[in-house]
Amino acid sequence: MSETNPLPYQPADGIKNGVSEKAMLIHHDKLYAGYVAKKDEICDKLAQLREKIIKGEASGGNATYSELRSLKDAETFATNGVYLHEWYFDALGGDGVTDKAPELSKTVSAKWGSVENFMKYLSECAMATRGWSLLAWDTKEGELKIYNADAHNQGGVWGCLPIIVLDIYEHAYFMDYGSDRKKYIEDFWKNFSWGVAEELYKKVSQMKL
Ligand SMILES: [Fe+2]
Repeated sequence: MSETNPLPYQPADGIKNGVSEKAMLIHHDKLYAGYVAKKDEICDKLAQLREKIIKGEASGGNATYSELRSLKDAETFATNGVYLHEWYFDALGGDGVTDKAPELSKTVSAKWGSVENFMKYLSECAMATRGWSLLAWDTKEGELKIYNADAHNQGGVWGCLPIIVLDIYEHAYFMDYGSDRKKYIEDFWKNFSWGVAEELYKKVSQMKL
Protein backbone atom coordinates (compact mmCIF):
# COMPACT_ATOMS: atom_id res chain seq x y z
CA MET A 1 0.00 0.00 0.00
CA SER A 2 1.48 3.34 -1.02
CA GLU A 3 1.80 6.08 1.57
CA THR A 4 0.05 9.40 1.06
CA ASN A 5 2.28 12.45 1.02
CA PRO A 6 1.49 14.38 4.26
CA LEU A 7 0.72 18.07 4.13
CA PRO A 8 3.94 19.98 4.98
CA TYR A 9 1.90 22.47 7.07
CA GLN A 10 -1.23 22.58 9.20
CA PRO A 11 -4.37 22.24 7.04
CA ALA A 12 -5.69 25.60 8.28
CA ASP A 13 -2.54 27.26 6.91
CA GLY A 14 -2.97 25.77 3.46
CA ILE A 15 -4.82 28.72 2.09
CA LYS A 16 -5.16 31.31 4.83
CA ASN A 17 -8.31 33.45 4.80
CA GLY A 18 -9.62 31.35 1.98
CA VAL A 19 -10.09 27.61 1.83
CA SER A 20 -11.23 26.28 5.19
CA GLU A 21 -9.49 23.59 7.22
CA LYS A 22 -12.49 21.33 6.56
CA ALA A 23 -12.19 21.75 2.80
CA MET A 24 -8.42 21.22 2.88
CA LEU A 25 -8.83 18.01 4.88
CA ILE A 26 -11.52 16.65 2.58
CA HIS A 27 -9.38 17.53 -0.45
CA HIS A 28 -6.20 15.98 0.97
CA ASP A 29 -7.34 13.17 3.26
CA LYS A 30 -10.29 11.91 1.23
CA LEU A 31 -9.92 12.89 -2.42
CA TYR A 32 -6.14 12.81 -2.84
CA ALA A 33 -5.84 9.76 -0.57
CA GLY A 34 -8.49 8.10 -2.74
CA TYR A 35 -6.30 8.55 -5.82
CA VAL A 36 -3.36 6.99 -3.98
CA ALA A 37 -5.49 3.96 -3.02
CA LYS A 38 -6.96 3.58 -6.51
CA LYS A 39 -3.49 3.85 -8.07
CA ASP A 40 -2.44 0.86 -5.94
CA GLU A 41 -5.58 -1.09 -6.80
CA ILE A 42 -5.12 -0.48 -10.53
CA CYS A 43 -1.46 -1.46 -10.30
CA ASP A 44 -2.38 -4.75 -8.62
CA LYS A 45 -5.07 -5.56 -11.17
CA LEU A 46 -2.76 -4.72 -14.06
CA ALA A 47 -0.07 -6.99 -12.61
CA GLN A 48 -2.56 -9.88 -12.46
CA LEU A 49 -3.79 -9.27 -16.00
CA ARG A 50 -0.24 -8.90 -17.29
CA GLU A 51 0.64 -12.34 -15.94
CA LYS A 52 -2.39 -13.87 -17.65
CA ILE A 53 -1.51 -12.15 -20.94
CA ILE A 54 2.10 -13.35 -20.78
CA LYS A 55 0.94 -16.90 -20.06
CA GLY A 56 -1.50 -16.74 -22.96
CA GLU A 57 -4.52 -17.04 -20.65
CA ALA A 58 -5.95 -13.63 -21.60
CA SER A 59 -5.70 -11.09 -24.41
CA GLY A 60 -7.83 -8.03 -23.73
CA GLY A 61 -6.25 -5.68 -26.25
CA ASN A 62 -9.47 -4.21 -27.64
CA ALA A 63 -9.58 -0.45 -28.20
CA THR A 64 -13.39 -0.15 -27.99
CA TYR A 65 -13.70 -1.88 -24.64
CA SER A 66 -11.60 -4.34 -22.73
CA GLU A 67 -10.45 -4.77 -19.15
CA LEU A 68 -6.91 -3.93 -20.25
CA ARG A 69 -8.07 -0.73 -21.97
CA SER A 70 -10.04 0.37 -18.89
CA LEU A 71 -7.16 -0.32 -16.55
CA LYS A 72 -4.55 1.42 -18.73
CA ASP A 73 -6.81 4.50 -19.02
CA ALA A 74 -7.48 4.50 -15.27
CA GLU A 75 -3.75 4.09 -14.59
CA THR A 76 -2.89 7.46 -16.16
CA PHE A 77 -5.88 9.17 -14.51
CA ALA A 78 -5.04 7.92 -11.02
CA THR A 79 -1.27 8.39 -11.34
CA ASN A 80 -1.57 11.98 -12.57
CA GLY A 81 -4.23 12.55 -9.90
CA VAL A 82 -1.67 11.60 -7.26
CA TYR A 83 1.29 13.51 -8.71
CA LEU A 84 -0.54 16.72 -9.58
CA HIS A 85 -2.14 16.92 -6.12
CA GLU A 86 1.25 16.40 -4.45
CA TRP A 87 2.79 19.31 -6.38
CA TYR A 88 -0.26 21.44 -5.58
CA PHE A 89 -0.38 20.70 -1.84
CA ASP A 90 3.39 20.91 -1.34
CA ALA A 91 3.54 24.54 -2.47
CA LEU A 92 0.63 25.87 -0.42
CA GLY A 93 1.17 27.13 3.12
CA GLY A 94 3.61 29.83 1.92
CA ASP A 95 3.47 33.61 2.12
CA GLY A 96 3.25 34.56 -1.55
CA VAL A 97 6.60 36.38 -1.47
CA THR A 98 8.08 36.10 -4.95
CA ASP A 99 11.55 37.20 -3.76
CA LYS A 100 12.00 33.63 -2.52
CA ALA A 101 12.29 32.48 -6.14
CA PRO A 102 15.02 34.73 -7.62
CA GLU A 103 16.11 32.43 -10.46
CA LEU A 104 12.58 31.47 -11.44
CA SER A 105 11.47 35.11 -11.24
CA LYS A 106 14.29 36.13 -13.58
CA THR A 107 13.31 33.58 -16.24
CA VAL A 108 9.60 34.28 -15.83
CA SER A 109 10.21 38.03 -16.19
CA ALA A 110 12.34 37.49 -19.30
CA LYS A 111 9.45 35.63 -20.94
CA TRP A 112 6.35 37.47 -19.69
CA GLY A 113 7.78 40.88 -18.83
CA SER A 114 7.37 40.60 -15.07
CA VAL A 115 6.32 38.12 -12.40
CA GLU A 116 3.09 40.09 -12.02
CA ASN A 117 2.35 39.73 -15.74
CA PHE A 118 3.01 36.00 -15.51
CA MET A 119 0.68 35.60 -12.49
CA LYS A 120 -2.01 37.59 -14.26
CA TYR A 121 -1.75 35.42 -17.37
CA LEU A 122 -1.61 32.08 -15.53
CA SER A 123 -4.62 33.19 -13.43
CA GLU A 124 -6.55 33.89 -16.63
CA CYS A 125 -5.49 30.51 -18.04
CA ALA A 126 -6.83 28.97 -14.82
CA MET A 127 -10.19 30.66 -15.46
CA ALA A 128 -10.21 28.91 -18.84
CA THR A 129 -9.63 25.33 -17.69
CA ARG A 130 -11.80 22.71 -15.98
CA GLY A 131 -8.99 20.92 -14.15
CA TRP A 132 -5.46 22.22 -13.86
CA SER A 133 -3.21 25.11 -14.88
CA LEU A 134 0.53 24.55 -14.74
CA LEU A 135 3.79 26.34 -15.20
CA ALA A 136 6.14 23.68 -16.52
CA TRP A 137 9.64 23.33 -17.87
CA ASP A 138 9.34 22.08 -21.43
CA THR A 139 12.37 19.85 -21.87
CA LYS A 140 12.00 19.73 -25.67
CA GLU A 141 11.91 23.50 -26.12
CA GLY A 142 14.09 24.23 -23.10
CA GLU A 143 11.80 26.94 -21.80
CA LEU A 144 8.95 27.68 -19.42
CA LYS A 145 5.43 27.02 -20.70
CA ILE A 146 1.94 27.36 -19.25
CA TYR A 147 -0.33 24.41 -19.99
CA ASN A 148 -3.95 23.66 -19.09
CA ALA A 149 -5.45 20.24 -18.45
CA ASP A 150 -9.20 19.61 -18.29
CA ALA A 151 -8.59 16.28 -16.57
CA HIS A 152 -5.66 14.55 -14.87
CA ASN A 153 -4.86 12.55 -17.99
CA GLN A 154 -5.94 15.01 -20.65
CA GLY A 155 -3.95 18.05 -21.74
CA GLY A 156 -0.56 17.07 -20.34
CA VAL A 157 2.41 17.43 -22.66
CA TRP A 158 5.06 14.74 -22.68
CA GLY A 159 8.48 15.85 -21.50
CA CYS A 160 7.18 18.78 -19.44
CA LEU A 161 8.06 18.98 -15.76
CA PRO A 162 5.67 20.89 -13.47
CA ILE A 163 6.91 23.81 -11.37
CA ILE A 164 3.67 25.53 -10.33
CA VAL A 165 0.49 23.45 -10.20
CA LEU A 166 -2.92 25.04 -9.61
CA ASP A 167 -5.90 22.78 -8.94
CA ILE A 168 -8.93 24.46 -10.44
CA TYR A 169 -11.39 21.60 -10.15
CA GLU A 170 -14.55 22.81 -8.40
CA HIS A 171 -13.84 20.45 -5.49
CA ALA A 172 -10.80 22.61 -4.67
CA TYR A 173 -12.77 25.77 -3.94
CA PHE A 174 -16.55 25.43 -4.25
CA MET A 175 -17.16 24.60 -0.58
CA ASP A 176 -15.67 27.93 0.55
CA TYR A 177 -15.87 30.21 -2.49
CA GLY A 178 -19.00 29.00 -4.24
CA SER A 179 -18.64 30.02 -7.87
CA ASP A 180 -16.06 32.74 -7.13
CA ARG A 181 -13.17 30.98 -8.82
CA LYS A 182 -11.32 34.27 -9.30
CA LYS A 183 -11.07 34.88 -5.53
CA TYR A 184 -9.80 31.33 -4.97
CA ILE A 185 -7.03 31.95 -7.52
CA GLU A 186 -6.12 35.25 -5.82
CA ASP A 187 -5.83 33.43 -2.49
CA PHE A 188 -3.79 30.65 -4.09
CA TRP A 189 -1.12 33.21 -4.99
CA LYS A 190 -1.25 34.84 -1.53
CA ASN A 191 -0.43 31.48 0.04
CA PHE A 192 1.89 30.12 -2.61
CA SER A 193 5.35 29.04 -1.52
CA TRP A 194 7.71 30.50 -4.12
CA GLY A 195 10.65 28.85 -2.38
CA VAL A 196 9.21 25.43 -3.26
CA ALA A 197 8.80 26.52 -6.90
CA GLU A 198 12.37 27.85 -6.97
CA GLU A 199 13.75 24.49 -5.85
CA LEU A 200 11.75 22.67 -8.52
CA TYR A 201 12.87 25.16 -11.17
CA LYS A 202 16.54 24.70 -10.27
CA LYS A 203 16.18 20.92 -10.66
CA VAL A 204 14.14 20.72 -13.85
CA SER A 205 15.60 23.62 -15.82
CA GLN A 206 18.85 21.68 -16.19
CA MET A 207 17.08 19.25 -18.48
CA LYS A 208 16.97 19.54 -22.26
CA LEU A 209 15.79 16.57 -24.32
FE1 LIG B 1 -7.99 18.37 -6.39
